[in-house]
Amino acid sequence: METVESFQLVATPHIIFGSGAIEQAGQWCAQLGNKALLVTGRGSLRRSGWLDEIVSNLSDHGIAVTVFEGAEPEPSVATVESGRQRLREAGCDIMIAVGGGSSLDVGKAIGALAGESGEAAEYQRGRQITEPGVPIIAVPTTSGTGSEVTPNAVLIDQERGVKASLRGDGLVPKVAIVDPQLTLTLPPAATAFAGIDAFTQALEGFTSTGANLVTDKFAAEALVHLAGAIRTAYSDGDNLAAREHMSLGSLLAGIGFASSRLGLVHGLAHPIGVASGQPHGRVCGLLLPHVIDFNLEVTQEKYARTARIVGITDDSNDEAAALSLHDWVAELVGDLQIGQSLSDLGISEEDLEPMIAPAMASGSTRHNPREITEHELTEFLHRIL
Ligand SMILES: [Fe+2]
Repeated sequence: METVESFQLVATPHIIFGSGAIEQAGQWCAQLGNKALLVTGRGSLRRSGWLDEIVSNLSDHGIAVTVFEGAEPEPSVATVESGRQRLREAGCDIMIAVGGGSSLDVGKAIGALAGESGEAAEYQRGRQITEPGVPIIAVPTTSGTGSEVTPNAVLIDQERGVKASLRGDGLVPKVAIVDPQLTLTLPPAATAFAGIDAFTQALEGFTSTGANLVTDKFAAEALVHLAGAIRTAYSDGDNLAAREHMSLGSLLAGIGFASSRLGLVHGLAHPIGVASGQPHGRVCGLLLPHVIDFNLEVTQEKYARTARIVGITDDSNDEAAALSLHDWVAELVGDLQIGQSLSDLGISEEDLEPMIAPAMASGSTRHNPREITEHELTEFLHRIL
């Protein structure tokens, strides 16, 4: 009998998953506090009608709600500061973040920093969060980032031109309410970007140097759901079953990579996101086939396994199966109209050099299965320009 390897799995929220789960928001809020700050993006939740539904559900359970519709697509530390001010002024004792990854990240940062005296930018630079914040309920309306279960919030500091994560146990929501119905109104392009982000996170989590036997279960299951549903969710957004599989896949990927960490796609996604201003998911999707190609020589077995479990091939030869995964991903990225090269994102040659240092310093890059030197990274970026 073989021994069992050691592993770690970080804390996850209490998770409520399923179409209709959103109806439980009020009762969960009422268990955790009296006054909620509801953080969301700039209008899409209101337009979809869900904002009114959720506020009325919370009010029915005796919760006083202050709405902060301030989260921008690539959120900044300045937005977190204005949200913290709203939370203090209104005396809120609970945070409910509803929206895409950016809204969840803003809400999580506001909630986690509620008891802290410093500015958000200091904690993004690495200052530890030591004071308890307010309990956070996270409600995703996209199936992408997995932010509803992860201990980090990605923010841009415009002054320093840096995009980086705020990390800490206080950023893990108390409750994650994942209701796929909330994703039905997401337009095709946003569905594609969020979906390929989730797929990338599942695959990078599966192949990360931090992967273990438990995170592998989450990642592998996530890959099956995401690969099986992404095209349908993109072309037929009203298909609830496809939306359910996407929501489940992104949730499972999030649980896995919160512990395993990610890889080179995500190490590069932040500096490329800052330079291009393009959505995170689009950047990830564009990079993914190139990074698979770079990693192929050391990650062949897991790429081959991925190709078999998602049903791309039944070829028992690892080299052939791994190549079929690369080709399948490249075709998917093409079909989702994501682009092939960095110049498709508006990146030019002079943008590349400033990306090297932040990408090399990234925890995601350090968890990539194939080690990369500064020289190799420079060559890689020029190759995919
Ligand atoms: Fe991502």
